Amino acid sequence: MAVALVVAAGRGERLGTERPKAFVMLGGRPMLQWSLDALHAVDAVRRIVVALPPGVHAPAGTLGVPGGAERSQSVRAALRAAGDDDDVVLVHDAARPLVTAQLVQDCLHALATHDCDAAIAAARVTDTIKESDGDEVVRTLDRANLWAVQTPQVFDRAALERALSRDDAELAAATDDASLVERDGGTVRVVSAPRENLKVTTPFDLRLAELLLAAR
Ligand code: C5P
Repeated sequence: MAVALVVAAGRGERLGTERPKAFVMLGGRPMLQWSLDALHAVDAVRRIVVALPPGVHAPAGTLGVPGGAERSQSVRAALRAAGDDDDVVLVHDAARPLVTAQLVQDCLHALATHDCDAAIAAARVTDTIKESDGDEVVRTLDRANLWAVQTPQVFDRAALERALSRDDAELAAATDDASLVERDGGTVRVVSAPRENLKVTTPFDLRLAELLLAAR
């Protein structure tokens, strides 16, 4: 069985809204609620812990904890509150409201059926990606092996605990949790995910998410 940690404590400054991003209304409900519905629909997810901004109550059916100053600290706070009954820990950003129960199940299935420490949702890159030094291109990467990484990311609990037992500065520099497991020498597996599982960062993303949810 798995425990899900949903990080929803970010302010979302790039979205330019008054309220914290996870609580911006999207299709008539707070953004966070879409992710919670997808997680509640998966039987293997026994409990949900949500890292919240100050003064916000936990949504029904979840355990709320105060988030940290950085995303990684919010993940760590949620993991601490989760207890140690579950061997599998799923981490999801509330900023990805288009996650589906199917994708959650696919990630859990990948971890359960392969010899790996983590299984992470990711979409194949469709753009050509170049690396530059300032404005000057240094190299063009081979697109065939590139993935745009998303959440959910599911972990063997011990691997995630080890990954998060770093000092705050190193944690804050990591842009996802799986990269810390990689740094520990762990095996991380990608699970093919739809590009629709986008991260809402800008007002454009919010509009796009609204249109995609309305078309479901
Ligand atoms: O800001 P960004 O979109 O990268 O945040 C990704 C996710 O991490 C969001 O769901 C946000 O609410 C969460 N977060 C958090 N605590 C922070 C910063 C971000 O829970 N201190």
